Amino acid sequence: MALRHFLTLLDFTPDELKKLTSRAIEIKKEHKQGKIYEPLKNRVLGMIFEKSSTRTRVSFESGMAQFGGNSIFLSPRDTQLGRGEPIEDSARVLSRMVDAIMIRTFEHEKIEQFARYSKVPVINALTDDYHPCQLLADMQTYQEHRGSIEGKRVTWIGDGNNMCNSYINAARQYNFELIIASPMGYDPTHTLLEENADRVRVIRDPKAAVQGSDLVVTDVWASMGQEEEQNERARIFKNYQASPELMTYANSDALFMHCLPAHRGEEVSHDMLDHESSVVWDEAENRLHAQKALLEFLLCNC
Ligand code: CP
Ligand code: NVA
Repeated sequence: MALRHFLTLLDFTPDELKKLTSRAIEIKKEHKQGKIYEPLKNRVLGMIFEKSSTRTRVSFESGMAQFGGNSIFLSPRDTQLGRGEPIEDSARVLSRMVDAIMIRTFEHEKIEQFARYSKVPVINALTDDYHPCQLLADMQTYQEHRGSIEGKRVTWIGDGNNMCNSYINAARQYNFELIIASPMGYDPTHTLLEENADRVRVIRDPKAAVQGSDLVVTDVWASMGQEEEQNERARIFKNYQASPELMTYANSDALFMHCLPAHRGEEVSHDMLDHESSVVWDEAENRLHAQKALLEFLLCNC
C-alpha cells in the first residue's frame, strides 16, 4: 500500500472508515477472549507529545505492546524538537528509525509539514484543529451501542474546538446530521461549516439544539493552550452545560459522549458522566481498540 497518513478523517474514504470500525470491534472481541495477535512484532511507533495526555498515550503504548511492537515517548522537553530543530529535519530523521509516528501538537500545519517529509505514516493525536483518533473511538462506541450512525442526528454542545471540527468531518464521512450549539464567537472553523452546510447547522440554544438528537457530545470549555481564557470562557459558556436535564430534550434513547478529561460543574453537571445515557467509559476504552485497527491498517498489508 502507498504511504498513507491519518491527519484528519478526510484522509480515509467513508468505506475505509466503516471497515476500520468493524475491524476495531473484532480486535476488541478477540483481545477480550485472550487471543494473542502480534502483527507489529519488531515494529516501533514514535510518539511526539507537545501537549499532555493520559488516554492517547496509554492507548497507543498499550496497543503497540499488545500487537507485539514497541513505542517511544518523545517530549519536546528532552528532545531536540524543543530546542528548535526544524520539523522537516526531525521528520526525515525519525522516519528513518521508526515505522510510524504519532504527534500531538498545537498548530495543525506543523503535523502537515511533518507528514510531507516523513517516509512513514503520521497519525494526528490531536492538534488545535482536529482530533480524528477520538472520532474513531466515538464512532465505534455509537456503533456498538446503537448500530449505524448513518442518518442519525448528533448535537455538539459548547466550544467549536478541535473535537467539534472533527465532528463536522465525521458528519460528512459517516453521513449524519450535526447540530452545533456554541455561543456566538466560539463557532468551529467557518470554511468547514460552509463546506458542510448540507448536513451541519448552528442552533445557539442548547435545548433546541438537542431536540430529536440521537447523540449529544461535549468537551471542555477551554482546551489545552487556552488556559488563560478559562475564567472568561466559564462566564460565556455557563448556559452550555450538558446535564441529565438537557438530555430530556433529546431522543429517549440518545447517548452522551465526552472525549475526557471532563470538568464536572463546568461543561458537564456533576451527575452527567454517570447518567444512563453516558457511554464515556466505553468511549475512552475504545481509543485502544480503534487505534489498534488504525495501526494495523496503516502498517500491515492486510
Ligand atoms: N481524549 C483524549 O485525547 O484524552 P487525553 O488528552 O488524555 O489523551
Ligand atoms: N479539546 C480538548 C480535547 C482534549 C482531549 C483539548 O484540545 O484540550
